[in-house]
Amino acid sequence: MRIGVLTSGGDCPGLNAVIRSVVHRAVVDHGDEVIGFRDGWKGLLECDYLKLDLDAVGGILARGGTILGSSRVQPSQLRDGVERARGHVEELGLDAVIPIGGEGTLKAARLMSDSGLPIVGVPKTIDNDIAVTDVTFGFDTAVGVATEALDRLKTTAESHQRVLVVEVMGRHTGWIALHSGMAAGAHAIVVPERPFDIEELARRVGERFEAGKRFAIVVVAEGAKPAPGSMAFDEGGKDIYGHERFAGIARQLSIELEQRLGKEARPVILGHVQRGGTPTAYDRVLATRFGWHAVEAVHRGEFGRMTALRGTDIVMVELAEAVETLKTVPEDRYAEAECVL
Ligand code: F6P
Repeated sequence: MRIGVLTSGGDCPGLNAVIRSVVHRAVVDHGDEVIGFRDGWKGLLECDYLKLDLDAVGGILARGGTILGSSRVQPSQLRDGVERARGHVEELGLDAVIPIGGEGTLKAARLMSDSGLPIVGVPKTIDNDIAVTDVTFGFDTAVGVATEALDRLKTTAESHQRVLVVEVMGRHTGWIALHSGMAAGAHAIVVPERPFDIEELARRVGERFEAGKRFAIVVVAEGAKPAPGSMAFDEGGKDIYGHERFAGIARQLSIELEQRLGKEARPVILGHVQRGGTPTAYDRVLATRFGWHAVEAVHRGEFGRMTALRGTDIVMVELAEAVETLKTVPEDRYAEAECVL
């Protein structure tokens, strides 16, 4: 068989582990040929690709990023490009394409699949917001990076008696905020799923100082928003891909907390550091399993589906189901964390 692979959307630790796994399973075990499209869907639309053999994937298991490159493509460009993509798949004699990506990529994968392309998807994202899989690879690494940063920030916050408002990624969900905040023992966690009450947040942080503590760590997910009308708030609008542009909630919150509490408050934005660098062992294993199962699905002709983790098993689920809803943090997780606003 001949299989094409691509990585699209925001990069994520573990992408290279999937690529390596696909090549190992397909080339070594099945005698297939594998090619990789450069820079995501763009590579498929422009027929820009490279051959992926064992040498090409040597030494990449522990490397962050993606050896194929990634990009974001506007939904309209993809819709207009479906026929071109189909032409390239035929021209290259591909029996299947394996796109590895998050919500946007999986929506595009569904579009391509609905138009008749043989697609098997692999979900990835540090945000952990894909509803049909228990976990996505990249999440464990991102939580680890954020937790280490929070541990470090605690010591400097204490020295200077500051409130540090630490902004983590996660787009519309609070998984990274919840898990890193719990792991590091943050004093307040603010997630997008629950619009927060600034008075309540200021009260909680203030009570900590009144009890004699000399610092506070607030973890805030980038997509968090105040309850309507409760605090002045700048919205960031939309970018050219139709994604919400986040306007710096940590900066806005630290100004507000400083004014209300009379304590020095500083924003810390962890940003892309959460996505960079080597994947954890957990993410490498999950990514490797996804790659292996994606190749098996190709050989079974299970197109229009994607890999997912359910319990300890890797299963195949319909792409249509995968893109229906986002996996948000459920209500019962807030109480366990104690300090979610
Ligand atoms: O979806 C992964 C993610 O890192 C989000 O957490 C974040 O909002 C977004 O991508 C950032 O995207 P970009 O790298 O395009 O700024």
